[in-house]
Amino acid sequence: MAKTDSTFQRRMQKHLDELKWLYMELYQNTDMFSELCDKMYEYYTGRSQSLKKRDGAREKNSAWYKKNDMLGMMLYIDNFAGNLKGVEKKLDYLEQCHVNYIHLMPFLDTIEGRSDGGYAVADFRRIKKELGSMEDLESLADACHEKGLNVCMDFVMNHTSEEHEWAKRARAGEGEYMSRYFFFDNDAIPAAYERTVPQVFPVTAPGNFTWLPEIGHYVMTTFYPYQWDLNYKNPRVFNEMMYNFLFLANKGIDIMRIDAVPYIWKELNTSCRNLPQVHTIVRMMRMIGEIVCPSVILLGEVVMEPEKVVPYFGTVEKPECHMLYNVTTMATTWNSVATGDIRLLKQQMDIVSSLPKAYVFLNYLRCHDDIGWGLDYRYLMQFGIGEVSHKKYLNDFLTGQYPGSFAKGELYNSDPASGDARLCGTTASLCGIEKAQEEEDKEALEKAVCLDLMLHAYMFVQSGIPVLYSGDEVGQVNDYTYHENPAKQDDSRYLHRGNFNWELAGKRAEKGSVQERIFAGLEIMEKIRKKVSVFGADSDVWTIDTWDDSVLGLIRANKKEKLVALFNFSGQDKTAWINEDDGEYTDLLSGRKMQAKGVDIPGYGVYWLLKRG
Ligand code: GLC
Repeated sequence: MAKTDSTFQRRMQKHLDELKWLYMELYQNTDMFSELCDKMYEYYTGRSQSLKKRDGAREKNSAWYKKNDMLGMMLYIDNFAGNLKGVEKKLDYLEQCHVNYIHLMPFLDTIEGRSDGGYAVADFRRIKKELGSMEDLESLADACHEKGLNVCMDFVMNHTSEEHEWAKRARAGEGEYMSRYFFFDNDAIPAAYERTVPQVFPVTAPGNFTWLPEIGHYVMTTFYPYQWDLNYKNPRVFNEMMYNFLFLANKGIDIMRIDAVPYIWKELNTSCRNLPQVHTIVRMMRMIGEIVCPSVILLGEVVMEPEKVVPYFGTVEKPECHMLYNVTTMATTWNSVATGDIRLLKQQMDIVSSLPKAYVFLNYLRCHDDIGWGLDYRYLMQFGIGEVSHKKYLNDFLTGQYPGSFAKGELYNSDPASGDARLCGTTASLCGIEKAQEEEDKEALEKAVCLDLMLHAYMFVQSGIPVLYSGDEVGQVNDYTYHENPAKQDDSRYLHRGNFNWELAGKRAEKGSVQERIFAGLEIMEKIRKKVSVFGADSDVWTIDTWDDSVLGLIRANKKEKLVALFNFSGQDKTAWINEDDGEYTDLLSGRKMQAKGVDIPGYGVYWLLKRG
């Protein structure tokens, strides 16, 4: 196909050699490569004028997503507003939340009861009926763009639903389609894989293979048995999935969240995680995006320790993902909530702060998934804290079992064999708001609201993009109705996937209500973060000693401003024994003027002390 468009040609020229090199390295297939290039041109020409304009503008301003005005929110379309049209009608509310990026949780076609919250996609080109149509998505994306909102969606590329067209044809025995998955007619190879591959859902979906009696084969299913792993050794799989990516990008998506990306390449005798070929694929995806739709950025979902996460940024010359989740900081934050001790969190902040400023992390307190206790146990061991007993303590505390605990969470994938378990619950419930409200304990409620706000203040101070979990902005508590729903009751992540409560949200207008205090408290922080330059990505960030193990001290500084941020992770009043340079600081949150020396800080209190010049 003659690819005559000069913009396309320019972008293609920039990447062609490398793209071809990597493609050949994996697939040694020139025909499939030229098909890929033809299709890229097709998707490029199929892109709307307004998206092309967006591409052009963002090519010139490629750091657009690194600014401190970015604020995200993730939400379930049905929980939030019924369907896509409903979300479009609620954009005013999102604007009031000062959000300029919304992550629409999975909305593609899936099978009820076997959907893993939408992460088992049956058709990448069709929207789940109840949520609307592709036209609705395009219309929502247009409306978002008009209001300055970016749209994020999940691109679930590791697997398809067993009801996907390919899976159905594979199950019917069509070799061409079987080769798009991992099929084995006896258990020798599956058993060999099981020796080195860990389990994602050891309790709710044990093992990495599923036996299909009707065709006498095993199929690889790393996640749920109805999620069949795609075989990226087959270039047809790679090409088709890239076409799906571009198809969705052309609907107006700005941020592609690459779901479960570390898992996409499998090799026998390995853990099947983070293999080098995964990086080749992500790098190719990045280039394909930069050629066809450069306004679209990649958010990698790598829920692993920092050493494993960082390589997904790629290198300066060969970047991969634009953004990655700051998952260890999130989990370590909840560790500090449960222990009242910030030492591990300080160590984690030191690691993150030492990374190149070009890395953009997505910071969050809660998301749709559980909290996994991927902490730095080598560090904790120096205090005699062992992994198994510590996880038990964290889970006991955050499920409210531990004496004196204020939290209400539930366990997730609790494995009696290993003693391991993860945790679910909303921010408000984990902070004690739910329990205090039930017990009508005003003092406890006061503390819980302070803790909730302090945690958000901490999230906002970190470098990167803060993303709110819908409902958290009005202190929404756990939803226990999933216990009665057979399609959901085995998956405790539904505890924090409840319907958005609009009645409750309405109370944000009532002065002094929990909703108003949280909503207004966050609003102050959101506005400051967008306006004050020290929150920018170019600031230096480091931790300081406060000489109190429950008070975290962080500094952000640029040429003009210095911010001393203090966070008390205990319920008791404390003093931060800091001694920062002379002069008056202003607490941005309260307006109070003070020195940054020997600062008294109330239980679950926070200060953002700013000095200019
Ligand atoms: C990701 C999602 C999670 C899902 C899994 C399988 O980790 O965040 O919700 O269960 O992928 O697709």
